[in-house]
Amino acid sequence: MAALIAVINGPNLNLLGTREPELYGNESLASIIGRLTRRIHEAGYRSSHFQSNSEGAIIDHIHALELEKNRVALFNPGAFTHTSLALRDAVLAVQLPFIEVHLSNPARREHYRTHSHFTDLAIGLVSGFGPLSYDLALEAALQFLHHPTSLPREAQHGHP
Ligand code: DQA
Repeated sequence: MAALIAVINGPNLNLLGTREPELYGNESLASIIGRLTRRIHEAGYRSSHFQSNSEGAIIDHIHALELEKNRVALFNPGAFTHTSLALRDAVLAVQLPFIEVHLSNPARREHYRTHSHFTDLAIGLVSGFGPLSYDLALEAALQFLHHPTSLPREAQHGHP
């Protein structure tokens, strides 16, 4: 079966397009997901998308991804990036390889956004490019699935 590319978005990202456009851009989440899904299917992979404002629902979704043998996620945990040990534990529990994605560059923002509970577990991090961050992360995910050995050794496995 073809590998799965799972796109996972955390709280408030359902409001993309109208939410603080100076930080996050004008494109809706539906539009971003539509573009990513087309690219994923063109490349011959399966896609899924999940967005929730609830921490527990995202944890349950991540647990369900354990059943997938061949998978990689694009994960924007939203504000849970900076707060959620429970989500961190979930990706560790199912050994989910993922690329961390942010529209803004949290490292340039308020001090309470500078720490991520995910970056040290991620294959890599794409942030600061608005909606384009997702497209760039997807290209990296395709590379991860197609030609893992072309990536640095640590990134080939996705987990330390
Ligand atoms: C975000 C950055 C987070 O700090 C913030 O809480 C978000 C969005 C981003 O994509 O830039 O909700 O993850």
